Amino acid sequence: MLAVLLAIHVLAVTLWVGGMFFAHFMLRPSVMDPALNLGLESRVLLWSQVLQRFVRVVWVIVLLLPVTGYTMIIFYLGGLSAQPLHVHLMQGTAWIMIALFVHLYTGPFRRMQWMVKQLLIPEAGLYLGRIRTVVTVNMTIGMVTVVLATAGRYWL
Ligand code: HEM
Repeated sequence: MLAVLLAIHVLAVTLWVGGMFFAHFMLRPSVMDPALNLGLESRVLLWSQVLQRFVRVVWVIVLLLPVTGYTMIIFYLGGLSAQPLHVHLMQGTAWIMIALFVHLYTGPFRRMQWMVKQLLIPEAGLYLGRIRTVVTVNMTIGMVTVVLATAGRYWL
């Protein structure tokens, strides 16, 4: 069972951090490429669709990560007090990532979707910029967390 929980945990992490990486480093520059000649409206509508799908998956992930993580800790790894430093650090940064995601969803994401429904495209574009900032921060914390969670045991 520990192996199953760890597998779900690591898959969830991969999809979340990998998804943010793909959006930031592949999709965004492609959408902005002058060769595609996408206007603000097309870009905003595209991101609205992409993010709608991505946030649904991330909601499942932000539930799965603490559930699988704390189940491993409590039932298989000797409880919280028995955890090495890198697991405590992983938990800490994980809660920052989850809080940032909840902020992103309840704030800029929902406002952007509302603006898109009202066809207020430039206003929606402003919220898209805020979403990008939060995603950049969360992607960076996510990468640091993956390094801590895996390599951390060898130097902490
Ligand atoms: C509250 C949330 C979380 C808890 C309670 C938690 C807890 C755990 C635990 C107990 C393990 C197994 C450690 C071991 O086998 O020594 C683990 C593994 C792992 N966690 Fe988390 N975790 C959380 C969130 C995250 C997040 C947000 C990330 C990355 C963005 C992450 C990345 C990883 C990775 C990559 C492993 C595999 C480590 C390995 O086996 O080498 N975790 N986590």
